[in-house]
Amino acid sequence: MTEWSTSSWRAKPRIQMPDYPDQAALEAVEAQLSRYPVLVFAGEARRLKKHLAAAGRGEAFLLQGGDCAESFEQFSSNAIRDTFKVMLQMAIVLTHGAKVPVIKLGRMAGQFAKPRSANMETVDGVELPSYRGDIINDLDFTPEARIPNPEKMLRAYTQAAATLNLIRAFSTGGYADVHQVHGWTLGFTDSDRASKYREVANRISDTLDFMAAAGVNSDTAHTLQSVEFYTSHESLLLEYEQALCRQDSMTGDWLAGSGHMIWIGDRTRQPDGAHVEFASGVMNPIGLKCGPTMTSEDLKLLMAKLNPKNEEGRLTLIARFGAGAVGDHLPRLIKTVQEEGANVVWTCDAMHGNTIKSSSGYKTRPFDSVLREVREFFGVHAAEGTVPGGVHFEMTGQDVTECTGGVRAVSDEDLSDRYHTACDPRLNASQSLELAFLVAEELSTRRDSKVMRATA
Ligand code: PEP
Ligand code: CO
Repeated sequence: MTEWSTSSWRAKPRIQMPDYPDQAALEAVEAQLSRYPVLVFAGEARRLKKHLAAAGRGEAFLLQGGDCAESFEQFSSNAIRDTFKVMLQMAIVLTHGAKVPVIKLGRMAGQFAKPRSANMETVDGVELPSYRGDIINDLDFTPEARIPNPEKMLRAYTQAAATLNLIRAFSTGGYADVHQVHGWTLGFTDSDRASKYREVANRISDTLDFMAAAGVNSDTAHTLQSVEFYTSHESLLLEYEQALCRQDSMTGDWLAGSGHMIWIGDRTRQPDGAHVEFASGVMNPIGLKCGPTMTSEDLKLLMAKLNPKNEEGRLTLIARFGAGAVGDHLPRLIKTVQEEGANVVWTCDAMHGNTIKSSSGYKTRPFDSVLREVREFFGVHAAEGTVPGGVHFEMTGQDVTECTGGVRAVSDEDLSDRYHTACDPRLNASQSLELAFLVAEELSTRRDSKVMRATA
């Protein structure tokens, strides 16, 4: 076995990565990026790891969410603000249900590169290379747009830096103040479900009023107006990742400086492949997508390779099986984890196993399937006596119509109204918040029945 280095992935089989036609241009970009400042710092990545370790023990809960693919064209401070805001709202609702701190982890500031199911795309008989995310090529359906262009890495870096700058300002600048809870359910006009959400919102707001009366408010309690918000993305375009890798001068550890957590996609998790090789050597928390084809053998190899010291908080297993299929796969993988005595954080990506084509032709995800997969995930963990550590959603703070259903129901016919995603369909602000209420309810019911069992 050869020793890990920031470039050792280059000797391994790589898939889902572009072949740049202009090698000299690629090398110039890599050289330039490798002189740029990192976007995140080793101390922050270590802190996130500590929080994730708590999630693995059931003492915290992870909320990971954001765009499927960040886009250059839709980049705006309002879009960042709105997604940040909805994630904070969701986190407060989840905290209320889980009664543990919620870790906020955006699919933001680096989520640009996309794996695709096919290398080529055909439209009206014309075949062109697939779109692979704004960091690689363009969505326009022309031969020029689909040529991989390394210069796009520089624009992605700049956008990620500006995004993080705004997130850091929001996180400490009082924007995170939680006393707005009253207003969150105003858009929910529908009957029974809406009033149930309003009830929870009122309870949260009562708690905050009580705390304020007891002297705990934004002025006295720093944690009420500042939040920790972390970033994550799929570590797919390894030339970009390598160029932002730096050695921590304090510890000698290597940091993937592109985001706090990086994850390995379901298509690129071959134990001997380039993506696993790269992630194995950096100190960041690592996510690993686990789809239906993940075997126990592979999972064992991957856990050994990605977390040889069995460090808590290092490895998050992101289950994404699809509604109706969680029971077929999760129990066997939980068993593998237990047999190995491995420390992992189990989370549920309730999006990627639930993509369908709507009758109107759009790629969509029914809200009810997303919710059902989350419930199945909690159910299996309850049955196995293991810890459901978090949830993972593709979502946006914008009022898009990409997923169907929800209390402000989006129908198949509505999808064309505001379908803006550069890749997979996202939950809109109202659907995201509604899901948080439902997941919180699930969490509190399970917590209560556990307490009852313990005291019986
Ligand atoms: C994604 O998270 O956008 C993605 C492509 O997921 P997966 O690798 O699980 O298919
Ligand atoms: Co996606």
